[in-house]
Amino acid sequence: MIIFAFASEIGAKAKLKKNMETAIYVPNDHEALRDKDHAELRPFSLYNSTESRRAELHAIVAAARGGAIGRGGEIPWHISEDLKHFKALTQGHPVIMGRATWESLPKRPLPGRRNIVVTRQRDYEAPGAEIAGSPEEAIGMCSPDEQAFIIGGGGIYRATLPYCTTLHLTRVELDVEDADTWFPLPDEEEWTLSEAGRPQATPEGVGYKFETWRRKK
Ligand SMILES: NC(=O)c1ccc[n+]([C@@H]2O[C@H](COP(=O)([O-])OP(=O)(O)OC[C@H]3O[C@@H](n4cnc5c(N)ncnc54)[C@H](OP(=O)(O)O)[C@@H]3O)[C@@H](O)[C@H]2O)c1
Repeated sequence: MIIFAFASEIGAKAKLKKNMETAIYVPNDHEALRDKDHAELRPFSLYNSTESRRAELHAIVAAARGGAIGRGGEIPWHISEDLKHFKALTQGHPVIMGRATWESLPKRPLPGRRNIVVTRQRDYEAPGAEIAGSPEEAIGMCSPDEQAFIIGGGGIYRATLPYCTTLHLTRVELDVEDADTWFPLPDEEEWTLSEAGRPQATPEGVGYKFETWRRKK
């Protein structure tokens, strides 16, 4: 009996040691060489982990009261300052959009940006853009060093918002009663308002303001 208990204790210790060895990630020579210049910049917990760095992913949207964002395939307002804001933030970055949003663009592709169009149609052609078969595939097509932007529409926002770290929201002070596309407005359990722009208005008197929301840890 004593011999059996002793043997099982040795077995348990060996198993624990094996688990510890597999849990601690030790870079091989190639990885160590590759990481040589960056290792000291990374927190130990990241360097010593097999988990890849979580990439920044941004969403950008203009939403009216209640989260209305579209009607009949179009955006139900025209705010030129918001278009400039959109261009300034997304310029030089990949933009990920659903096929309907792509088709709604007056000028395709959006210049100066990698345009990635999400569609289930295998043979869909979008000259000047790259095609992805799912929102996840589209995100995976961007390297962690690229700050990709989700630019709509409704289905793509809903599918990708759980992965987004920052949300650029233009609040439009309009009631769009016949809207057919919606954005899930941020709730304060999940998001923190990090920047709130001052209220502004178009020459026609449509109120709007720019907000930046960051996902809570
Ligand atoms: N206010 C804003 O900031 C804003 C921004 C963007 C868009 N919008 C508006 O939103 C409306 C368009 O939005 P929407 O929701 O109708 O369409 P959308 O999200 O732009 O595109 C929908 C299409 O994307 C593809 N898709 C969606 N989920 C997918 C998945 N999980 N896997 C593979 N493909 C997927 C499908 O394409 P296939 O059918 O080809 O398979 C689907 O028909 C328009 O009115 C537009 O003006 C507003």
